[in-house]
Amino acid sequence: MEVKTSLLDNMIGVGDMVLLEPLSEDSFLDNLRKRFDHNEIYTYIGSVVISINPYRSLPIFTPDKVEEYRNRNFYELSPHIYALADEAYRSLRDQDKDQCILITGESGAGKTEASKLVMSYVAAVCGKGQEVNKVKEQLLQSNPVLEAFGNAKTVRNDNSSRFGKYMDIEFDFKGDPLGGVISNYLLEKSRVVKQPRGERNFHIFYQLLSGASDDTLKKLKLERDFSKYNYLSLDSAAVNGLDDAANFRTVRNAMQIVGFMEDEMQSVLELVAAVLKLGNIEFKPESRCNGTDESRIKDKNDLKEMCELLGIEQSVLERAFSYRTVEAKMEKVSTTLNVAQAYYARDALAKNLYSRLFSWLVTRINESIKAQAKTRHKVMGVLDIYGFEIFEDNSFEQFIINYCNEKLQQIFIELTLREEQEEYVREGIEWTNIEYFNNAIICDLIENNQNGILAMLDEECLRPGTVTDETFLDKLNTVCAEHQHFESRLSKNSKFLTDHSLPHNCFRIQHYAGKVLYRVEGFVDKNNDLLYRDLSQAMYKANHSLIKQLFPEGNPAKVNLKRPPTAGFQFRHSVGTLMKNLLTKNPNYIRCIKPNDKKASHIFTDSLVRHQVRYLGLMENVRVRRAGYAFRQPYEPCLERYKMLCKRTWPHWRGPAREGVEVLMTDLQVNPEEFSYGRSKIFIRNPRTLFFLEERRKQCLEDLATLIQKIYRGWKCRTHFLLLKQSQITVAAWYRRYAQQKKYKRIKSATTVVQSYTRGWQARKLLRELKYQKRCEEAVTTIAAYWHGTQARRELRRLKEEARRRHAVAVIWAYWQGLQVRREYRKFFRANAGKKIYDFVIQRIIQKYFLGLRSSMPSMSPIDSSWPSRPYLFLDQTHTELRRIFHLWRCKKYRSQFTEEKRAVYEEKLEASEIFKDKKALYPSSVSQPFKGDYLEITKNPKYQKLSNAVEEKVLLADVVNKINRANGKGTARIFLLTKKNVVLADQKTGQVKASVPLPDVSSVSVSTQSDGFFALKLKEGAASAVKGDFLLSSEHLIEIITKLHRVGTTAADMEQLNIDISDEFLVQFKQDKVCVKFIQGAPKNGNSVSCKRKNNRLLEVSVPTTAA
Ligand SMILES: Nc1ncnc2c1ncn2[C@@H]1O[C@H](COP(=O)(O)OP(=O)(O)OP(=O)(O)O)[C@@H](O)[C@H]1O
Ligand SMILES: [Mg+2]
Repeated sequence: MEVKTSLLDNMIGVGDMVLLEPLSEDSFLDNLRKRFDHNEIYTYIGSVVISINPYRSLPIFTPDKVEEYRNRNFYELSPHIYALADEAYRSLRDQDKDQCILITGESGAGKTEASKLVMSYVAAVCGKGQEVNKVKEQLLQSNPVLEAFGNAKTVRNDNSSRFGKYMDIEFDFKGDPLGGVISNYLLEKSRVVKQPRGERNFHIFYQLLSGASDDTLKKLKLERDFSKYNYLSLDSAAVNGLDDAANFRTVRNAMQIVGFMEDEMQSVLELVAAVLKLGNIEFKPESRCNGTDESRIKDKNDLKEMCELLGIEQSVLERAFSYRTVEAKMEKVSTTLNVAQAYYARDALAKNLYSRLFSWLVTRINESIKAQAKTRHKVMGVLDIYGFEIFEDNSFEQFIINYCNEKLQQIFIELTLREEQEEYVREGIEWTNIEYFNNAIICDLIENNQNGILAMLDEECLRPGTVTDETFLDKLNTVCAEHQHFESRLSKNSKFLTDHSLPHNCFRIQHYAGKVLYRVEGFVDKNNDLLYRDLSQAMYKANHSLIKQLFPEGNPAKVNLKRPPTAGFQFRHSVGTLMKNLLTKNPNYIRCIKPNDKKASHIFTDSLVRHQVRYLGLMENVRVRRAGYAFRQPYEPCLERYKMLCKRTWPHWRGPAREGVEVLMTDLQVNPEEFSYGRSKIFIRNPRTLFFLEERRKQCLEDLATLIQKIYRGWKCRTHFLLLKQSQITVAAWYRRYAQQKKYKRIKSATTVVQSYTRGWQARKLLRELKYQKRCEEAVTTIAAYWHGTQARRELRRLKEEARRRHAVAVIWAYWQGLQVRREYRKFFRANAGKKIYDFVIQRIIQKYFLGLRSSMPSMSPIDSSWPSRPYLFLDQTHTELRRIFHLWRCKKYRSQFTEEKRAVYEEKLEASEIFKDKKALYPSSVSQPFKGDYLEITKNPKYQKLSNAVEEKVLLADVVNKINRANGKGTARIFLLTKKNVVLADQKTGQVKASVPLPDVSSVSVSTQSDGFFALKLKEGAASAVKGDFLLSSEHLIEIITKLHRVGTTAADMEQLNIDISDEFLVQFKQDKVCVKFIQGAPKNGNSVSCKRKNNRLLEVSVPTTAA
């Protein structure tokens, strides 16, 4: 069998202690030293990694190294913590097994560093991606935060973890981290108020004071000087190699990455500052009148500042430091605190404040890093707990820490020594038992429920009556005296009565890692972990969100009189839970060893290492490993894992799994000494055999992968080909369909064209035939018509000819007859027959004329000028005469309808016509105007009452006229009245009679031929009224006035006929002068009115516009 032995054979010393020859404690140590001297700090015992703290940085944690160990077999490369981390991660990812990394060793052995290395390796090799990287970063960055608040410098370790930490990292099925959960175990809070010599308080206090900006410190009311704070030990404030200021920045940065809000960080720092302030509060005694001592705060400045920081009312806190209220059975009793009690209260508050802040930080980090996805996940737990420690002065904390380490050792023993050996027996493997020390007895001494030390402590704490640390020790002395690992001066075991190394107030326990002396002082108090309710209530009242959360029991609404569980009880419980949790996971051990006590590199103190090798049980571990088998596995999973290595088992084995494994091993020709068959498992002695199997499996898997790949590729190509083929058929089908459709359409359209041409041709042929037929029919009809016409005409001609002949015959006959008659009767009427016939004809014609005239008579209107036309020339005169007679007759008829008044009017009109027609241009326009006579309604109008009365006769005409002034030719309005006897002129306004001329005095009237209304009344010379001369007047009703004047003259018997002179120039007698009035035609001026101007003494010129006519 060719096995690649790898580096295991080829290295400094022996990489795996199992291969050490000869095996003794010395050779073991020599091997470790040899390797340590050559910077080989890791050595295997089978799958367990021994790590020796190098106390200096080695170049073996580089990214290249990570790559080197990635996905490699455990034994392939030289031992390294990365190989263990890789193994754990791969079996988590590939085999779906939850893992836990148990890192043990005493304080300063390098556990915390180892845990960080494991985490950083896993982070480097697991999946990548934005979200995954964020999760990784948060998980990694939770370390600096927790270290700042939970680590401190001790004499053994400059960065000693003062709390236990177990972190579960959760992964998805691909091995990508999803998140994590951190559990913390009992912080060593007593360190807040007091540190042993050479040690420091928690790092954060120093980091804050060194690294915070001046501004931040001012806000937190702090000073940079460490010496100003009672809680900070001065002698070791600065630590070599620790840069507190830089670390503060790192912590702030880490808090930001983890997801702390700015205000949360501020609150945290405020609390840290408050703890420092609290340490500076000092008390002084003050005696009271009743003799008791009461404490008073010395300088209230720090208290004030602290209260300001936390938003607490100063008086409330001050009172809480001075009084203690005890509530029992609904009764409240308040007692004053003395100085010691006040200091106790102060420190208790500081410790509580800090430890609760620490727990809050863990909870807050958990909130940030918790896995979001709710899918099933795999878990890798990393346990980094405070290491076993032995100080000069060991107290409750060390007791608890060492108890925890005992439990871890127990787990190691359980799983690697006891369980393994028992398994060989169970499985029927030949086995010689190997002795080892089982520390279960020590665990029992501490945790036994009946008489364990923790149970005793609890019992003592809960017991009524006076309880002190001494009473507790007494109790231990009685209960545990018989226990072989318990030592006390006062125990019944007389062996220690004279042991001066064991003081009276101490007890000693022989731990697996050595004897530790515990001073009982403070055990009871620390276990009770009491904080006076007044203080928690004062804290709850704080106006600070974080403080309020930290002290929920201070809420007065939720007063709980039940005692809180003791610190010991809580710790025991949480350790119990942790152990149960670890047992469910596949353990991976890292056993840290501290090479010297000086924290120095290159120093390998034999005695110290030997001690650790002993108490860690490493020799026993090697022995069990060597005698036993490196690897075991139930048959089913083994067959399942390796069945591909043998043709008979691959791919299915039908028989029992064990037989399958046997066939497999035989087939592989593995040396029978290398393995044994148990009842349910196969045991493989040497890791190399396993390595060989794994190597073959890997090879085979590669071949199988190639096969699968081949088949898959073939399948893929075939599928692809079939798909292509199918596609091609589909495409072809579609194309053919398309081509056929196209062809069909082409043929169809061609057919349609041919069809249409054929049909067209047929139709045209038919049309031609039909047309021809129709033409034939028409021709026949025409010919027939012509024929019939010809026939008819011929017949007509014949008939006409016949008729003419008959007529001619008749005429001839008539003539003949006439001739005969005339011949016969010539002798009777030859002389007057002509006249008689003539008369008869004439008579007949006239008769016809009159009858025709009667039927076509025109209307009876006198103005109708129509008349039928003349029928015969010889009746011309008669026709004209008849027309005249008819007109006269219808005029007479028309007139006969008139009333008397109308007749007078028409007579007047007739008279006017006789006087003026064709003589004066004004006449035509007057024809249509009726002669009204009284235009002024003189009798009815009251205005003319007087005038009416002055005139005796009936007024024939009343009108307004203009009397033309001889001097300027202008007119003055006058009323003109005409009666049967007089012409009266009166004033138009007053009605006063200006002149009254009897009509017989009027000799004549002169008017022009034109369209003006001027008229001159000429008086007889010598008449009485003619004194002033003639009157030249103008009127719009000239025609009517003159007509009426003339008529009066015509009708009156005593009057002469009035002369009417119509000419364009006449003389008018004005008093003595005769003035000529001349009418001329002028251009229209002044709105077409007639104007009269005096030209000279003898001439008045009247201009009449042409249009006025
Ligand atoms: N692999 C390492 N390489 C270099 N230095 C290391 C390594 N492991 C540990 N150290 C050094 O040893 C110191 C102590 O280690 P670490 O804090 O891990 O001890 P621990 O076992 O956790 O102790 P404790 O129980 O007190 O917490 C570290 O501060 C570091 O200086
Ligand atoms: Mg640590």
